[in-house]
Amino acid sequence: MTKVIQVERDLSVLDEAAKCLAGGGLVAFPTETVYGLGASALNEAAVAGIFVAKGRPQDNPLIVHISDKKMLDQVVSSVPPAAEKLMDAFWPGPLTIILEKSENIPISVTAGLQTVGVRMPSHPVALALIEKSGVPVAAPSANLSGCPSTTRASHVIHDLTGRVDYIVDGGACSVGLESTVLDMTGEVPQILRPGGVSLEELQAVLGEVTYEPALKDSREVPKSPGMKYRHYAPKGELYLVEPRYAESLAEKLAFFSGQGKKTGVLRCSDNQYEADFVIDCGKTAEAYASALFDALRSMDDLGAEVMFAELPQDEGGIVPALMNRMLKASGGQVLEENLTTRIERL
Ligand code: TXA
Ligand code: MG
Repeated sequence: MTKVIQVERDLSVLDEAAKCLAGGGLVAFPTETVYGLGASALNEAAVAGIFVAKGRPQDNPLIVHISDKKMLDQVVSSVPPAAEKLMDAFWPGPLTIILEKSENIPISVTAGLQTVGVRMPSHPVALALIEKSGVPVAAPSANLSGCPSTTRASHVIHDLTGRVDYIVDGGACSVGLESTVLDMTGEVPQILRPGGVSLEELQAVLGEVTYEPALKDSREVPKSPGMKYRHYAPKGELYLVEPRYAESLAEKLAFFSGQGKKTGVLRCSDNQYEADFVIDCGKTAEAYASALFDALRSMDDLGAEVMFAELPQDEGGIVPALMNRMLKASGGQVLEENLTTRIERL
């Protein structure tokens, strides 16, 4: 049985879920990025339950969430000065830092790696839940593996009812895309997954920071195991398109409608389209980021069979993360132009 807990101001409603988490249960909870599916990171059986509930491949490691830097000792073997700087600058917030793991963390959390990703989320409900449970919390995104991540409690209820003990409803996630994953175990800090903290922000604190080569070149094997899987995919076909190709998109919509297909457009411009479903995702990249997964899930609910998503027109900030998720969700299908130049600018 899955129990849903609504949280408004009174955080004491979290007590039973926190107790369950500490005792080895599974609790889905909101963070500022996406909802997480949490289990005690110190409990091997509980962690195994996450992989079963999500249908997640065993070789994809989990991020460990903490509410206080005092918990770091339980998670990592040491904190180098550069990582300390990052924590001071970006925690609590959407940055996951990869460091050498401590002995306490079972290798089922890290999928056999000697490193671990650690993050302190900024969502007050996430912080309160972790603090009340008293344990570091391993949590992947709270979606069935391969589906778009969850940014509303309704998404989690859809995917995980009957598979977890509690779902904590704390409203919509503000960032809407997952955290930046930054590997601090090599010579130069490397972004393994672009996310809520941008390359420019990291460079301002650390100096040299690079993107992992596989982010730009699909022939490279990604260092972050999770990046190699099909991800965020809606049920229908998804194509990406630059808003300036509105005319060509109009032709495609007419073609697919003529074939009797239900069509959808995710829009971030003023273009008008003749589609069965048009979802406005906002005019800024930030708005688009927080709307994307909800829009993809809504298209599934509506029954869209062929979808087109307009690409964001700004650059920097959250845009590389947004492009990364859109490219994965679409399987790299792009209308009219090959995106190489924009991907190379990542
Ligand atoms: O925003 C987020 O990060 C959300 C919320 C819940 O905090 N969590 C999340 O977890 O996105 P998940 O499991 O969906 O993605 C974790 C990513 C995967 O790509 C995984 O391969 C990578 O982080 N990762 C975790 N530990 C790693 C490690 N030790 N080395 C390399 N990559 C790692
Ligand atoms: Mg995920």
